[in-house]
Amino acid sequence: MSDTWNAVDEYVSGLVVKPDAALDAALTSTAAAGMPPIAVSAAQGKLLHLIARMIGAERILEVGTLGGYSTIWMARALPASGRLISLEIDPRHGEVARANLARAGVDGVAEVRIGAALDTLPKLAEEKVGPFDLVFIDADKANIPEYFKWGLKLGRPGAVIVVDNVIRNGAVLDDSGRDANVAGVRRLNELLNSLPEVEATTVQTVGSKGYDGFTLAIAGRS
Ligand code: SAH
Ligand code: DHB
Ligand code: MG
Repeated sequence: MSDTWNAVDEYVSGLVVKPDAALDAALTSTAAAGMPPIAVSAAQGKLLHLIARMIGAERILEVGTLGGYSTIWMARALPASGRLISLEIDPRHGEVARANLARAGVDGVAEVRIGAALDTLPKLAEEKVGPFDLVFIDADKANIPEYFKWGLKLGRPGAVIVVDNVIRNGAVLDDSGRDANVAGVRRLNELLNSLPEVEATTVQTVGSKGYDGFTLAIAGRS
């Protein structure tokens, strides 16, 4: 099936999402730097962009930058007065991302902060740069529940939180605890189940990134 998933993703991306030189260049430079091909698909990037526009997001937080591909998609949804902060542990990824943000013309609204997110998130709280309207969690999967809790803390009431890679080819069903990434996703789901003030759903996806999915949540009422 994955040949069809790829072909359909290409078809939809070409006609509906629409090709874009700066986004293509971000992917090319990410690959050229030897970084893994794990950015969101074009269709998913556009979904993040549309969500940001739909909620009129002015402040966006991203956990996990890589080459800045998803960052560019979301930054483009911001007004000139908007702000996006993306957290990345690998300084080399950060450098590639910064060049890509500049080429896409969004370096005025989007910035990359280097460090382990569990170290940089508390700094954001101290700085009071929030509250964020949209939080996209896409870094190491073992810490997903911690990032989600930070999203609740730094997000405004009613903030939208999106979590990538929560299905992983169905691996989410593995309750053995052997895979720390899967365990992270399962802990998120337990957390979501325990928080009455958070409404969430999880949607399975197929496409150029295989069979995976994302969780979409609203953090309380605005
Ligand atoms: N959001 C990007 C893809 C991110 S890939 C896109 O769709 O375009 C995941 C990124 O998270 C990698 O660049 C990895 O270095 C980073 N990462 C991994 N562990 C991290 C941590 N503890 N803190 C911050 N970033 C981390
Ligand atoms: C991986 C990480 C991602 O964020 C993703 O979308 C796909 C794969 C990974 O670490 O393998
Ligand atoms: Mg991802």
